[in-house]
Amino acid sequence: MASRRSLNLHINGNIHTLSLEGRVTLLDTLREHLGLTGTKKGCDQGQCGACTVHVDGERVLACLMLTAQAEGRDITTIEGLAGADGTLHAVQQAFLEDDAFQCGYCTPGQIMSAVACIREGRTGSDDDIREAMAGNLCRCGAYPNIVAAVRRAAEALA
Ligand code: FES
Ligand code: FES
Repeated sequence: MASRRSLNLHINGNIHTLSLEGRVTLLDTLREHLGLTGTKKGCDQGQCGACTVHVDGERVLACLMLTAQAEGRDITTIEGLAGADGTLHAVQQAFLEDDAFQCGYCTPGQIMSAVACIREGRTGSDDDIREAMAGNLCRCGAYPNIVAAVRRAAEALA
C-alpha cells in the first residue's frame, strides 16, 4: 500500500489536516476528501480550466498540482470567493447579470480565472480578456457573455 503522509492545507481561510497518499491531486483532495465540489473536473489533464483555483493568489489548475505541493500555501476555491456575509464577489455578480453561463459546469473555473485576470490587469480590451481567459473552455459557447461579465466586473473593481 502506498505510504500516506499528514498534510496541513489552508483553504478559504480554514486549516484542514488530512492523511493522504503523495500522488493525490489537489483537485481530488478538494472534491473527494473535503467535499468542496464547486471546483469541477473536466478533462483532468490540464486542458479545460474547469478545475481552476488560486494558490497564493495565482491561477492554478488543480488537476495538475499534487496536494503535497499546496501544503502551507494559501488556497482559494469558488466556495471562498463570496464575503463572509454571503455577499457575492463582483465577478460572481457580473456573471449573473450578464447571463454568462448555460449549463454552468465551466463557471467556477471561469470565475476563478476572471478574478485573477482582473487582478493581473489583463482586461484592457475584449481581446485582452479573450486571450487571458483562453485556458478556460466552455462547451456551451457562452464566451460572448463571459467576456461581457469580465469587462463589467473589471469596471466595477477599477
Ligand atoms: S480538469 Fe483541470 S484543466 Fe481540465
Ligand atoms: S456554461 Fe456549459 S460548459 Fe460553460
